[in-house]
Amino acid sequence: MNKNVKPLRIAGVGYCVPDTVITNDDLTKLYDTSDEWIFTRTGIKERRIVSGNENAVDLGLKAAQNALGKSNIKVEDIDCVIAASSAPPQLYPSLACQIQAGLDIPNHIPAFDMTAACSGLIYALQVARGFIGSGLYKNILLVAADNNSRLVDWEDRGTSILFGDGAGAMVVTEAEDGIDDILSLDIKSDGKIGQYIYMNLPGKNCPLVEPCDEVDAKIHMAGRDVYKFVVTTLPDFIDECVKNSGLTAEEIDYLIPHQANQRIIEAMQSRLKYSDEKVISNIKYYGNTSAASIPIALVEGVQKGKIKLGSTALLCGFGAGMTWGGAVLRLREGIC
Ligand code: COA
Repeated sequence: MNKNVKPLRIAGVGYCVPDTVITNDDLTKLYDTSDEWIFTRTGIKERRIVSGNENAVDLGLKAAQNALGKSNIKVEDIDCVIAASSAPPQLYPSLACQIQAGLDIPNHIPAFDMTAACSGLIYALQVARGFIGSGLYKNILLVAADNNSRLVDWEDRGTSILFGDGAGAMVVTEAEDGIDDILSLDIKSDGKIGQYIYMNLPGKNCPLVEPCDEVDAKIHMAGRDVYKFVVTTLPDFIDECVKNSGLTAEEIDYLIPHQANQRIIEAMQSRLKYSDEKVISNIKYYGNTSAASIPIALVEGVQKGKIKLGSTALLCGFGAGMTWGGAVLRLREGIC
């Protein structure tokens, strides 16, 4: 690494999911489906969704408080907030600004959202790495939070079975000991296949001009195309992430993949030749919580004793855009 680039330490990670559980059996009240169909194709049994006025900002705030609590970094020392959100409750004010306000961060620091859908946390980590590496900011709060359940079409059984709501957060800081927790990190996109997953914003043309086509503001997904794209692209990509880390696949302790589909997770597992113990999957209980899925899997994995800290992990995410990203990280003791 260039010696002028400052190394990054992951100081704390947290998550929050809503209390309300919707099972596959519950979904049979909405459309013709079954627990067996959903579980065999996706690995999902249930998901958590927001209820009443609860939204992604509430979840993001709790996740941020948990991450900050682990980090020992004070709220007033945070000098940038980046939120990775593709299904926020409002387009603006940004989710990051609402987190800044909710945490009562006293300083006028920058706070902004970035949209890379389910790859968002890895994208945000790359941006934070650039900021910290250059010395521009020192302590950065990353929040990944979405309320997908408000934006899926609950009449579309091919899409609404997949998503759940949740939030993850990570506090990153300059590593004073000189040890960089990022062993490799890369982000990619292919906008030419953007229509595989899209969500319009509602709106009409000015009444003085020709009207535009009416759009619906729901999540649309060509599930089979997404599936094929991911299983043909991701295995080679994770090979590259491993190679760039300077470690071998065996030397990396865990795979913490984006939780989109158990069969996709197994495709990555098989490329890495990992035993089940090295692969963190909790999709069964949460479905796809977009950018939050990786931090939720990480922290819950530690809490349930599946992940021992003082280890390394390969993170890999993909989502609308299409975007994808991967990182090999050092997971220090005490981060969650
Ligand atoms: N219950 C029962 N039947 C269903 C169903 C459901 N929930 N959803 C779709 N079907 C039906 C379809 O109508 C279709 O019926 P037909 O053959 O009579 O037309 C049939 O099942 C096959 O549909 P298809 O969409 O081809 O299913 P699939 O095997 O591709 O599985 C997904 C659908 C969504 C589970 C799968 O494509 C997938 O997981 N893709 C990846 C999506 C993803 O990861 N997205 C997030 C990216 S971040």
